[in-house]
Amino acid sequence: MHREFIPCTTLIALVPAILLLAGCGQSHSPAAPGENAPAPVRQFVIGMSQCNLGEPWRVQMNADIAAAAAKHPDLKVIFKDAQNDTLQQRAQVEELVSAGVNLIIISPKEAAPLTEPVAHAMKAGIPVIVLDRKLLGTNYTCFIGADNKKIGKAAGQWIVQALHGKGNVVELMGLQTSTPGQDRHTGFLEGIAGSDIHVIFRADMQWLEPIARQEMESALARFDKIDCVYAHNDDGAHGAYLAAKAAGREKQMLFVGIDALPQEGIAYVKQGILDATFQYPTGGAEAIDVAEKILHGQVVPREITLGTRLFTRDNVAQGGVALP
Ligand code: FRU
Repeated sequence: MHREFIPCTTLIALVPAILLLAGCGQSHSPAAPGENAPAPVRQFVIGMSQCNLGEPWRVQMNADIAAAAAKHPDLKVIFKDAQNDTLQQRAQVEELVSAGVNLIIISPKEAAPLTEPVAHAMKAGIPVIVLDRKLLGTNYTCFIGADNKKIGKAAGQWIVQALHGKGNVVELMGLQTSTPGQDRHTGFLEGIAGSDIHVIFRADMQWLEPIARQEMESALARFDKIDCVYAHNDDGAHGAYLAAKAAGREKQMLFVGIDALPQEGIAYVKQGILDATFQYPTGGAEAIDVAEKILHGQVVPREITLGTRLFTRDNVAQGGVALP
């Protein structure tokens, strides 16, 4: 885990002011005459800006956040769903800032357009935890996510090995204005460098299964020999599988995805639909852990890199293997 420590003195100084602003300071139940007043309960409000809830992985992220927050009686989380619309996500972050929440967690749809509203939050003294997809620059309190370049590279190396160094690959990429899409692509190129693997078809499927399926239909129509599909998420790999199956060609190629949700990617590996998937942890529980620390004035790392696991037909029954 790579950790860079930053001083949090500014944050500590700002917390009481934020509490006043949000009206979420201490609350007391009135004590009956002669009774001791109960200990004050201080509640912090966290605004969670989710870019889209149309994908199972993001539903899981919110569930992980809610489950972790439920263990902290001093935390209340307000969830916003931008429905895969960048403008809506920008507006929702601004709303959270105007409402004076105590902290924001954001999983941004795209890097560039969400950088400015997060900068506004930081300027207003609201700490921001960025989850999974990055922004431009480092104007936030803490970033939490797995290493997408490393995952892309491992996927490339796995494919080189599985195809014995040679073959035709279709790459179905995640949204190229989001950092995991960019990093899973550049990492993959590193992983296949020096081999005889050729990417014969490449498309941006924007993380969405129906688009992946459509793009794969085009690839199947154009190319007779496809040895493997590398999709930047399991939804994309599954969409490609459905297209290949409809064409009666699914047995001619391997399918590799990323995310490895138990009910999605791991289940697909068990069912023989995917050949490999790389876990991409949601970071939801870690975000609440870090939020709690920030809100209590503790120093947190600027970046927290989560680990990943590889699941294949051979190791899925044993729970996959951790990537070094
Ligand atoms: C969901 C998702 C995941 C992927 C992540 C990357 O929106 O596409 O499938 O791993 O986002 O940010």
